[in-house]
Amino acid sequence: MIILGLETSCDETAASVVTKDKRILSNIVSSQYLEHKPFGGVVPEIAARAHLGHIDFIVEEALKKASVSLDDLDGIAVAGGPGLIGGVIVGVMMAKGIAMAKDLPFIPVNHLEAHALTARLTSDVMFPYLLLLVSGGHCQFLIVEEVGDYTYLGGTLDDALGECLDKTARLLGHGYPGGPIIEQLALTGHEDAFSLPKPLKGQEGCAFSFSGLKTAARKVISENDITSPTFQADFCASLQQTIGEILIDRCSHALRMAHAKRPDIKTLVVGGGVAANQYFKGQLSQWAQSYGLEVVSPPIKLCTDNGAMIAWAGVERFRKGLLGSLDFAPRPRWPLEELRRGDKTERKTIS
Ligand code: KG4
Ligand code: ZN
Repeated sequence: MIILGLETSCDETAASVVTKDKRILSNIVSSQYLEHKPFGGVVPEIAARAHLGHIDFIVEEALKKASVSLDDLDGIAVAGGPGLIGGVIVGVMMAKGIAMAKDLPFIPVNHLEAHALTARLTSDVMFPYLLLLVSGGHCQFLIVEEVGDYTYLGGTLDDALGECLDKTARLLGHGYPGGPIIEQLALTGHEDAFSLPKPLKGQEGCAFSFSGLKTAARKVISENDITSPTFQADFCASLQQTIGEILIDRCSHALRMAHAKRPDIKTLVVGGGVAANQYFKGQLSQWAQSYGLEVVSPPIKLCTDNGAMIAWAGVERFRKGLLGSLDFAPRPRWPLEELRRGDKTERKTIS
């Protein structure tokens, strides 16, 4: 089985060809970084136009690199949301066009579901597992029961973790995305140089809150010299250390909640762009040892948005007969736990 996956929900135009037996035949990602750079963040209108300008070429490139044609495909998957509506429309219309022209199954995929399932493309992760989904727009814990079956445990009350990192990096005078820049700068810093708050640490539940940390970061930055490389390194190391502690505390609570529902959970999957951070991964892996819990995250380039994660979610859905229909409407908001209620996909039997 060969599936083409398209991703256009934020600022990456991406296409990838993935097989049922977990081979990534191509994975083309075109970043709009330069288009958005002058504005210090993603501008939705610019993103939509850029997707429109790039999508044909990216799809062609993905097929060429995979040495397949549209006739070799068994289905086409596309991020149908959540995300910036202009971009999602571009991807969905492209996918519908191909599906219609080639009479292929059309598989709209929830972008968050794709992040949730990517670890199964690159590692042998079995259901159920606990998922920490940390990206630029989302920050939440879920139990992944099965493909299309997610139980929400808790999430951020305000900002997503990626957003907090991006905004802080901006205050330090850097571009977007900020997460990888902070990770790089932290490598040579002292993590106890600055004391920062750890909102909700020790409290019941597994919610997050990052707005207070962001405000505290702004205050420290305004009181220091951002042109000093020592300050930059020490501050970023302290910030990462603080966030690492928050993540461990929240994961401890989430694990307890998850085990109360599913005592058989043995894996914590960390997904989404922030999962690319090797410091956080290291901290969580160390913490997890005492629980006999395995921490799994996809390889760095599959943590941030890409087409392979959409194509793989397409494979997983296709196998279960969870296809979509051509009247699917793009969904700028699309909570993951809604998938369980059937929503806008239809179930078909695949022979
Ligand atoms: O999943 P993603 O590519 O897009 C969304 O769905 O939001 O996540 C992007 C986020 C950005 O906030 C970016 O700063 C963060 O992931 N990120 C990282 C790293 N690489 C990307 N955060 C921390 N460390 C990284 N290495
Ligand atoms: Zn994402």
